[in-house]
Amino acid sequence: MSISRCAQSWIKGVAYHFGFSLRRLRVASRNAASGGDFTGKVRSLLHKVDPYEGFPWQSYPDDASGWGSASPAFGELVAAKRPQRIIEVGTWKGGSALTLAEHVAQLGLDAEIICVDTWLGALEMWTDQEDESRFGSLALKHGYPTLYYQFLANVCRAGRQSLITPFPIPSVTAAQWFALRDVRADLIYIDGSHEEEDVYQDLVSYWDLVRPGGVLFGDDWGWDGVRFAVERFARENGLTITHRHDKWELVRPA
Ligand SMILES: C[S@@+](CC[C@H](N)C(=O)[O-])C[C@H]1O[C@@H](n2cnc3c(N)ncnc32)[C@H](O)[C@@H]1O
Repeated sequence: MSISRCAQSWIKGVAYHFGFSLRRLRVASRNAASGGDFTGKVRSLLHKVDPYEGFPWQSYPDDASGWGSASPAFGELVAAKRPQRIIEVGTWKGGSALTLAEHVAQLGLDAEIICVDTWLGALEMWTDQEDESRFGSLALKHGYPTLYYQFLANVCRAGRQSLITPFPIPSVTAAQWFALRDVRADLIYIDGSHEEEDVYQDLVSYWDLVRPGGVLFGDDWGWDGVRFAVERFARENGLTITHRHDKWELVRPA
């Protein structure tokens, strides 16, 4: 007799609460008949209150500047995969998430884009206090970044609140949450830290969350840390790296 995915997810949540490790729960999930894949909206699991509700977005400038955000790769992948769920790791002001949302909307897909970011900045945003586009954009208040609010304002200004769900925690922790809740995605975009060990950890954490036939892709092939990590992960797992415009890709077999 098989138990429903919802019940499995609930049992895993309870087991985790009582001290079972994620490793043990993951093995149990792999052995389960359904393989585990939550098909509802993650927003409903993640936020009890709408994160955009009452947000005064008009008081923020129109600034969704970022890196690699307008790449044609986003539109091509959305058209090819017609995703039901997209996870983005590294969102900054929302440039790439908004591009993805635009393509999802154009195709009329009933999809959800979950943005994982601490909104505290990556290493390179903290190394040069004179760099307005990086350190300056963190917009510190009393020493703490307020970049998240610029992201929220950009999503509101574009009218994409229903498509984009923020998840403001470290990438590996978010992946653990997704695993615990059986949340998988058709497209996963990796654009968080560019340091080799961090990128490698993101790859290890998110690869298992890609649905069969889905794509894990990312930015910044030109960064040593990214390239070395992707090459190492692909080699260790017998995967082929392909390239689409400025993005690298790993395709999960269907
Ligand atoms: C290069 S920016 C993302 C650019 C964005 N995709 C765009 O279109 O402009 C990298 C982002 O990753 C986030 N980040 C870095 N390391 C992270 C981690 N370990 N967990 C979560 N977010 C992280 C930073 O806060 C930053 O916003």
